[in-house]
Amino acid sequence: MDNKLQELCEFLKEQVPYYDWVGFYFRNGSKEELKLGPYAGAPTDHTIIPFGKGICGQVAVSNTNFVVPDVAAQDNYIACSITVKAEIVVPLFVDGKNIGQIDIDSNTPDPFTAADERFLEFVTAEVAKIL
Ligand code: SME
Repeated sequence: MDNKLQELCEFLKEQVPYYDWVGFYFRNGSKEELKLGPYAGAPTDHTIIPFGKGICGQVAVSNTNFVVPDVAAQDNYIACSITVKAEIVVPLFVDGKNIGQIDIDSNTPDPFTAADERFLEFVTAEVAKIL
């Protein structure tokens, strides 16, 4: 499973020019925290993110997409790299439960549109089928 997700991350990063870091975070057992799963891009120190912290942690509790056109304008943001300008996080639901998310960082300012949201909702729904 992790291999497939790893390939998916690499594929998305290669195919979409403004997808510079693509990764999955999943709920860490029954803990109120996210754990980093497969990803493509620069290694990150943020392998565990408490619920509520950063963009990812907020999506863990909000259950909704979070599009950040300018990360510098966010108070509750966890920086992974100084090159990152924008971020999108889309939750992943299995049987209606938010069990994780896909997280994409971009070095391009304000690159994400509704089309990215619809596309990544499709991707997370497809991933949910094989988890
Ligand atoms: N920026 C994220 C942290 C994860 S890194 O982007 C890989 C956040 O604020 O939750």
